[in-house]
Amino acid sequence: MKKVRKAVIPVAGLGTRFLPATKAMPKEMLTVVDRPVVQYAVDEALEAGIEHIVFVTGRNKHVIEDYFDVQPELLDTLTRSGKTDQLQSLNRLQPQPGTISFTRQQAPHGLGHAVWCARDIVGDEPFALLLPDMVSYGERGCLSGVMDLYRETGGNVIAVEQCDPMDTGSYGIVGKGDSTGSGFVITGMVEKPAPEAAPSNYYINGRYVLQPDIFDVLSNQRRGAGNEIQLTDAMVRLSDIQKFYASPFEGRMFDCGSKDGFIQANVAFALIRDDIRDMVLDPIEQLIASRRRHIQAA
Ligand code: UTP
Repeated sequence: MKKVRKAVIPVAGLGTRFLPATKAMPKEMLTVVDRPVVQYAVDEALEAGIEHIVFVTGRNKHVIEDYFDVQPELLDTLTRSGKTDQLQSLNRLQPQPGTISFTRQQAPHGLGHAVWCARDIVGDEPFALLLPDMVSYGERGCLSGVMDLYRETGGNVIAVEQCDPMDTGSYGIVGKGDSTGSGFVITGMVEKPAPEAAPSNYYINGRYVLQPDIFDVLSNQRRGAGNEIQLTDAMVRLSDIQKFYASPFEGRMFDCGSKDGFIQANVAFALIRDDIRDMVLDPIEQLIASRRRHIQAA
C-alpha cells in the first residue's frame, strides 16, 4: 500500500454563495475567529501526516499564495517592537520551503476539473483531497480518521456525516454496505437525491483519499450537474473497478462557503478558544436572549 504524502486543496471556485464578500476576496481567506479557513485545512492535513500541499488556484486568488509566503517587513516590524507571541505564531504557521505547490485552474469548470489540474504534481500515488470551505471541528481533524481507514483498507476513502434524512437533496449521498474497520463499504454514490430515492443519509463532507486512477477517469469526464465536471460523477465511474470506503466523522464540519455555516463556525471556534471564550460567551447569550424576547413580543 502506497503512503499518502500529498494533499490537494482546490481554491479556484467563485464562491457565489458568499457574494458580495467573495467579489474581491477568495472565500478561502474569510476568517474563522482569526485564521483564514484555508489555514484550518492545511493544519488538518499536517495533523494527518501530509507532507506536501498542492493548491489549485485561479484568477483573483493571489492573496492565498501571499498568505503562505514569508512577509519580511512584517516579521522585522514584529521583531523590532518585541511582539514575540505574534512572531512565534506566524513562524509556527509558515510552511517549510518546498512543501507547498501551486497549480492553476484557468476557469472554474467544477471540482472534478480542479482536481484533474493537480495530476502532474500528484503523480502516480494516492493523495488526500480537502475542500477548504468545509472546516473540521472536533477532537481530531476529519482527515486523520480518513487516513486511519485508508491504512486499514487501501482503496479510496471518503469522509461522511449523517444529515437529516429530509435534507439528502442538498448533498452527495453514499450507500452503506458492510462495516469494515472504523468505517463501511460504499455501495453507491448519488448526487443530491430526493429523500425517497436516497440510499442512506450519509453525506460526503469534503475529505477524501483517492487513488491516482481518478485522474484518468477525470480526463474524459463529461460535464454533469451545473454544467461542471463533477468529482462525484468520476468517483462513481471509478467505483466500477475500485473499492470505496466511508469514514464516518465523529466531529462535525461547518460549511464556511455558506453564510450560516460560516457564522456557526465562528461562534463554535470562539467558544473553544481559552483566550476568546470569556469575552464572547456572555455577549452572545445576551444577544440571543434579547432577540428571542423581540420575536416573542412581535
Ligand atoms: P464549491 O462548490 O463549494 O465552491 O467547491 P464554489 O463553486 O466556489 O462555491 P459556490 O457554490 O459558487 O458558492 C468546493 C471547493 O472546490 C473549489 C472551491 O474553491 C472550493 O474550495 N473549486 C470549485 C475549484 O477549485 N474549482 C471549481 O471549478 C469549483
